[in-house]
Amino acid sequence: MSDKQTFEKARNETISYHKLYYSRHQLFEKDSWLAKPDSGLIQLLEKSLIADYRRAGRNDTLCLLDLGSGVGRNAVPMAMTLQKEELPAKLIAVDVLAESIDILTKNCTKYDVAEIIEPVVADNDEFIIEAASYDLIAAISVVEHCAGKVKVLKLLKAIAKGLKPGGFARIEMTTDRNVIDLKTKQAVPTYVETPLSESQVREMFTEAFAECQTISLEVFPYKEVLDKDDRKILWQSKQVSFSVRAKEKESTK
Ligand SMILES: C[S@@+](CC[C@H](N)C(=O)[O-])C[C@H]1O[C@@H](n2cnc3c(N)ncnc32)[C@H](O)[C@@H]1O
Repeated sequence: MSDKQTFEKARNETISYHKLYYSRHQLFEKDSWLAKPDSGLIQLLEKSLIADYRRAGRNDTLCLLDLGSGVGRNAVPMAMTLQKEELPAKLIAVDVLAESIDILTKNCTKYDVAEIIEPVVADNDEFIIEAASYDLIAAISVVEHCAGKVKVLKLLKAIAKGLKPGGFARIEMTTDRNVIDLKTKQAVPTYVETPLSESQVREMFTEAFAECQTISLEVFPYKEVLDKDDRKILWQSKQVSFSVRAKEKESTK
């Protein structure tokens, strides 16, 4: 298979997996991965961003970006928190899949956060992240869907550059994918646009966020049993997640 064919196969697998998953599971449904937001992200929003904003006596509009937002597992709770705290805020939620954005738009109405969230259909490989524009950028389980390692690194660097001074980013990436047929225990071919190992992600992270302060870097195992072509398969991978903070503006005193 050529690189282009492998990429197209991976992209089709990503699209069909998410279309099916979002058609079968509702936002915040128990026993699904949509049940709860990413706890590290919510902690970053509440304990770091909002706390700092209040401490600094700011009153400007907070700008947030959620890349690969899906149906709003993280965007909706973040917007609800900002609303509850009565903070002026705008959250751009980007996903390549039109079906995700349709469901997200309905969820924004359902959870009364349509004024804060702006849903956008776009591919992260094309989406332009304006420099020094965001107080918080989230990219949870999506960066590995860029079209190759060069684009993964480009996106990570764009995230770092897109942060305002003192802004925060939370990124989670799936690495070291291993899929087996539960009955035969044989390996099942698995396709992702950019297969990555934990060490590759660590290297890219170090390069892209050299100018930022690392708040946390965690690695934990992930397992999920899935139905595929009438058989049960076991998906195993690692989740590498990190939270960073951009440098504050240098004092002119
Ligand atoms: C594993 S889901 C995670 C969704 C969400 N971040 C969350 O944590 O619930 C990955 C999402 O990224 C989207 N996606 C995949 N490739 C993308 C790309 N190149 N650009 C933007 N979104 C993409 C998928 O449609 C899907 O909604």
